[in-house]
Amino acid sequence: MRKTIAVFALGLCCLSSQAFAMAKFNFVEKPPAHNKSKVVFINDTKMLSGAAAELDNGSEGRLSQLLALNNFDSKVGSTLHLQMIAGVESVLVVGSHDDDGLDNAELQNLGGVIASAMTSTEKKRDVLIFADDLIYDNTVPAAQLAYGYHLRHYSFDRYKTQKSEGVSNVTLVTKSADSARLAYQDDLRYVAEGVHLARDLASEPGKSIYPQAFVDVVKRKFKGIDDIDIEVLDMRDIKKRKMGALAGVGQGSINDPRLLVIEYSGTTKNQAPVALVGKGITFDTGGISLKSNTGMWAMKSDLSGAAAVAGTLYAAAQRGEKVNLVGIMPLAENMPSQDAIRPGDVLETMKGTSIEIISTDAEGRLILADAVYYAQTEFEPSMLVNIATLTGSAARALSDEYAAVITRDFALSRKMMSIGELSGEHVWPLPLHANHFKQIESSIADIKNSGAGNPGASIGAAVVGTFVDESVPWVHLDIAGVDWLESDIDVAPKGSQGWGVRFMDTLVRDSAK
Ligand code: BES
Ligand code: MN
Ligand code: ZN
Repeated sequence: MRKTIAVFALGLCCLSSQAFAMAKFNFVEKPPAHNKSKVVFINDTKMLSGAAAELDNGSEGRLSQLLALNNFDSKVGSTLHLQMIAGVESVLVVGSHDDDGLDNAELQNLGGVIASAMTSTEKKRDVLIFADDLIYDNTVPAAQLAYGYHLRHYSFDRYKTQKSEGVSNVTLVTKSADSARLAYQDDLRYVAEGVHLARDLASEPGKSIYPQAFVDVVKRKFKGIDDIDIEVLDMRDIKKRKMGALAGVGQGSINDPRLLVIEYSGTTKNQAPVALVGKGITFDTGGISLKSNTGMWAMKSDLSGAAAVAGTLYAAAQRGEKVNLVGIMPLAENMPSQDAIRPGDVLETMKGTSIEIISTDAEGRLILADAVYYAQTEFEPSMLVNIATLTGSAARALSDEYAAVITRDFALSRKMMSIGELSGEHVWPLPLHANHFKQIESSIADIKNSGAGNPGASIGAAVVGTFVDESVPWVHLDIAGVDWLESDIDVAPKGSQGWGVRFMDTLVRDSAK
């Protein structure tokens, strides 16, 4: 058995170097003289400007005529493919009407729209995007477009013999080419890479991403990055530190649990770090409280929280954000076996308190209980954020559009809503009430891991919150509904979203101020 595991670990060599070709972005002030492929923006079909106006003038008004013939409206994100306009072989027209100017998230969406609209012929050509024709608000539009393009330009195709086509060269034409290049190359591209890392980890089958395999992939990805310190606790260390909840969830699997800790020191030692704690269940069968068959395969992505934490730390460290961070990823596989924990069992936590297991399928809160306690006692963070695919309840309440945010202090929830707006990843508050803590009182232990039922997301948060001191600013993110989508959005193909990297990245930038 051990031998096979070693082979799988080696098989993962390709995870970080996807076969899918990365797009290359160039930023130039003057467009190169070729007439292959152009992307032009239309703010107003009645009054063309910039590159669109040039094409129209160079074609004796053919562009305007075709826009009218096709009933093209200039709504943000509308697209139309045209050929042979003023000698340009392929023109992608993109609607971009905005009265008060596009903000960063909107520009990123546009970049994603362009990436997804590229036809296979266009993909083989050098594409020119005329970024300055947009009406934008207080930003470097070309960098944001490239970032959005990069986010969307993703395909998990390592198991397909026929790989997706990538675009080799995207050239953004802008008068602020230098600052756009800097903003993209030294910063935003790392966020996109962090998002892609998270998507890779969550898309990978459970067979090949078990706790130690997650550690291996992350270690490889972080190799050579400055100011990073990685520590891995194995089952012996976990037990030595009395993390009975993490050990308990992991004990049913042949693949032992781990606690992965990544420290990033971007500023002076005396600054308390922001702690990011992510649920890393590498596969959730439910354990002895076995899940039903329908959709169980999707539980390969039950490590999305941990994956987002890894992606966020990657981006912050690569750009050298002036902040201290600690990423804590409890990793375990929730399997039914003769060694697995049972409903009714009682586990001792690192905090010293006990938890009665009502359902072995409420495992995320168990591993987080030890992980948040470890975060707070080992690192005394200025803020503690945990992120997890925790409850179907959060998914039912908020669906695809919002992750649930739960805090003890509504002002903090409001703050998270504004971080969400800035980042393009939105959150909506759910409550945490004294009665939710009452629901998890146990008759034989200090607490139990599940209440009578509703409200499920809040009860899950109450279990985790029991292990976080009230003095610590604490943010609980339940991403069960948003981390995996059944259809494409502008900045991501369907499937794993890598949700949380952009949100936490924005939060990290805010806390560095
Ligand atoms: N990983 C699941 C939550 C989940 C469900 C994530 C659907 C993504 C999509 C979690 O471990 C779980 O099983 N939660 C239970 C909790 C219950 C047993 C108290 C749930 O939500 O049903
Ligand atoms: Mn579960
Ligand atoms: Zn789970």
